[in-house]
Amino acid sequence: MCGIVGYVGNRDCVPTLMEGLTRLEYRGYDSAGIAVVGRSGDLRVHKAKGRVGELAAGLPARLRGGPGIGHTRWATLGEPSDANAHPHTCGTIAIVHNGIIENAEELRVKLTAEGAQFTSETDSEVLAHLIAAAGEGDLESMVRRALSQVVGTYGLAVIDARFGDRLVVARNGSPVVLGIGDREMYVASDVAALVRYTRQVVHLDDGELATVQADGFRTSTLDARATAKRPSLVDTDVLSYDAEGYTHFMRKEIHEQQRAVERALRGRLDERFHTAHLGGLNLDPRQAREIRRVKILGCGSAYYAGLLGAQIIEELARVPADAEPASEFRYRSPVVDPGTLYIGVSQSGETYDTLAAVQECKRKGGRVIGVVNAVGSAIARECAGGIYLHAGPEVSVTSTKAFTATAVIFSLLALHLGRIRDLSPADGRRIIAGLRALPEQVAAILATEDEIARIAGDLAGYRGMFFIGRVRGWPVAREGAQKLKEVSYLHAEAYPASELKHGPLALVGPEMPTVAVVPDDELLDKNLSTLGEIKARHGRVLAVGHTAPDAKLADDALLVPRNEPELDPILLSVPLQLLAYHAAVSLGNDVDKPRNLAKSVTVE
Ligand code: G6P
Repeated sequence: MCGIVGYVGNRDCVPTLMEGLTRLEYRGYDSAGIAVVGRSGDLRVHKAKGRVGELAAGLPARLRGGPGIGHTRWATLGEPSDANAHPHTCGTIAIVHNGIIENAEELRVKLTAEGAQFTSETDSEVLAHLIAAAGEGDLESMVRRALSQVVGTYGLAVIDARFGDRLVVARNGSPVVLGIGDREMYVASDVAALVRYTRQVVHLDDGELATVQADGFRTSTLDARATAKRPSLVDTDVLSYDAEGYTHFMRKEIHEQQRAVERALRGRLDERFHTAHLGGLNLDPRQAREIRRVKILGCGSAYYAGLLGAQIIEELARVPADAEPASEFRYRSPVVDPGTLYIGVSQSGETYDTLAAVQECKRKGGRVIGVVNAVGSAIARECAGGIYLHAGPEVSVTSTKAFTATAVIFSLLALHLGRIRDLSPADGRRIIAGLRALPEQVAAILATEDEIARIAGDLAGYRGMFFIGRVRGWPVAREGAQKLKEVSYLHAEAYPASELKHGPLALVGPEMPTVAVVPDDELLDKNLSTLGEIKARHGRVLAVGHTAPDAKLADDALLVPRNEPELDPILLSVPLQLLAYHAAVSLGNDVDKPRNLAKSVTVE
């Protein structure tokens, strides 16, 4: 959610901080700020409600120096305002913080009694006061003493004007990464802020602190035991964090899906045994055979991709499978069963609810694997094994290419589990051929963008709409509705087509259009009769499928190439992404930064 950036070196840090904040803005964008140690050894802060661009426009010329820290915020505690924006300060100390301090209120009362004066409503501000109150010594030991009193999660960066050669950072549940430059160092909550300057990075682990100086860094645990870290190379192309001429990251990422699918498949199809080769799974064939159920856990679009995955796993592997919002799972005291394979799904690998669900499974002795995009992320590290999406960085808040890549990964897993069980070689061959055809077919759908944009412009004039689908089409409808509401702010509700007449049909009429997912599968006739029920109430219908229904049943149709029935949902989802995108554009919305949302939600 929020983004952190920091710099220590010989240059003026302000341009680097501002550039980093721009790169991180997708994580949160209701307020932003920077703090630097000025050339005369004083602390200088500039922060404001609003976007990073607004902060940049108002930067005072005197704001130069270093080291420095910056933050872009997505409000959790305390509304977006100048006062609640980070950095927060106390005397010579400034901090930026991601996460939640659970005992903030208690600490605030204690610090106030000791004379501290708070200027914001945030939980984060207590960290600045705690560090300032932590007595004498070097900055690292002050931070360590302060954190020993804290319950909660943090990615934290601290400067102190009295220590003008260093930053101190700490991590617990919210990522912190160090970037190694040439006699200069960077820190950030996300490599996106660093890749322009360096590819050599060090990921802190939970419970670790680091003192970062221009010529190096030193890491240790909260209880002051030194830790050894080996830098790794970010293998991501720096350009993939740029919009590359596209007006929006969302559109760029939709158009990257052909390549994302190719990357998800690369090296994983085994033509000899008609199966999928998944090296990181850490499940030998006997263990894989012993799986009696699959339970997929994720949030938002990751959860919807999980629904799609559960469907295909059940179809191909004939293992009962379902998906559940990770945020619900972890709070309902779930029964964790040794025969179940739990799968945590996350693009960012940081979503707190998903991480907590994974930890809950592990705590109860469950076997958990990850389906994750961000290599080395918290969820990836927490799992016993897993499969990376290799979709490349996803910047737009609303997930598109990661959703599609996740669905492809689940198809591979379904094929793998199926071929260990009863899926025949002929069916294995059929699915492999289908998977191989996907990238070209995705490209063919993207080529119909103009037609989708035209229909989206029409639909954007309504106040809301239904999305319906049966069985394989149902997760597609759910994700389609999610996309539309996220970026267009139109009301979009997904319903199983079979349930329409059990309630929602009451709302169908000329003012309530329906987007119907109607592939040419064994349920086509049933779907067509549902369209008949809608048309009989004069509802407008957009059909998404393989052949255009009779004009009496659908006003418009978006057609996708036919693949294997089990894989069709992957393709059917793609036009719905473009539909949401173009509806939002026609309504003039800020597509990449939808209101109230953030790319990764690292708090509860
Ligand atoms: C947030 C985003 C969604 C995303 C969800 C899960 O709510 O706004 O777009 O699907 O988090 O994110 P993850 O990184 O775990 O896939």
